[in-house]
Amino acid sequence: MNIDFSKYPLPKRFRHHTAAHLYVPLSLMKNKPDYYPPVFDKLDWNQVFLNGKAPDLIDIGCGKGSFLLENALQNPDKNIIGIELRKQPVDWIAGVIEGEKLQNCAVLWYNIANGMGFVESNSIEKIFYLFPDPWPKRKHLKRRAFNNESINEFARVLQKGGELYLATDLEEIHNYHLKVLDKSGLFSYKIIDNDDEWNLAVTNKEKFCRANDIEFYRIKCSKL
Ligand SMILES: C[S@@+](CC[C@H](N)C(=O)[O-])C[C@H]1O[C@@H](n2cnc3c(N)ncnc32)[C@H](O)[C@@H]1O
Repeated sequence: MNIDFSKYPLPKRFRHHTAAHLYVPLSLMKNKPDYYPPVFDKLDWNQVFLNGKAPDLIDIGCGKGSFLLENALQNPDKNIIGIELRKQPVDWIAGVIEGEKLQNCAVLWYNIANGMGFVESNSIEKIFYLFPDPWPKRKHLKRRAFNNESINEFARVLQKGGELYLATDLEEIHNYHLKVLDKSGLFSYKIIDNDDEWNLAVTNKEKFCRANDIEFYRIKCSKL
């Protein structure tokens, strides 16, 4: 990637998780907590992207943003937005975007479990949902952002034939992804086991899995 990251030192203590209640959608809470990502259903893209255009690609749970930034550089004619629950990486990525004057890249501090009312229907080419926080226990199901409701929202914002990419390093979460896809009937999909067919930039988590010989599972879906 053609960015000199020495200009953007990462915070010394980069926390991997945030408070558990931040994962829960506001609709399931009695009161809005004092510290919670802003919830909105409208955005002025002029205020979000330096080029003022709406997004074409969405990276949900963009983490430290390697995939997001790489995509923005690889696709200068596409606008990509990262959505991330943890404020720390959001602030860091925003600094890189500003420093590099990336016209087509933006990042939002937002909990995707609150929907994507701010994204126009049938407008998005690709959604990436790569290595989400797994929350494998059943009792933590409501903290998973991929579920029977959010898949409807993904289908709403995607164009016909638009693509949804799913990846995880946990087999049970992979099976859960398949179950939600089957139940929705909104996507055709294929399990991908070779890199050429996947043909996407490597995320921070995927890099970690590869370096540590951890198996991971990928699904490429197409909106029907
Ligand atoms: C394991 S990291 C993976 C990051 C990146 N996609 C990658 O593959 O390297 C999962 C990320 O999803 C974010 N996340 C989890 N639930 C989220 C939600 N409901 N809304 C937005 N981001 C979320 C977490 O904060 C975390 O940064």
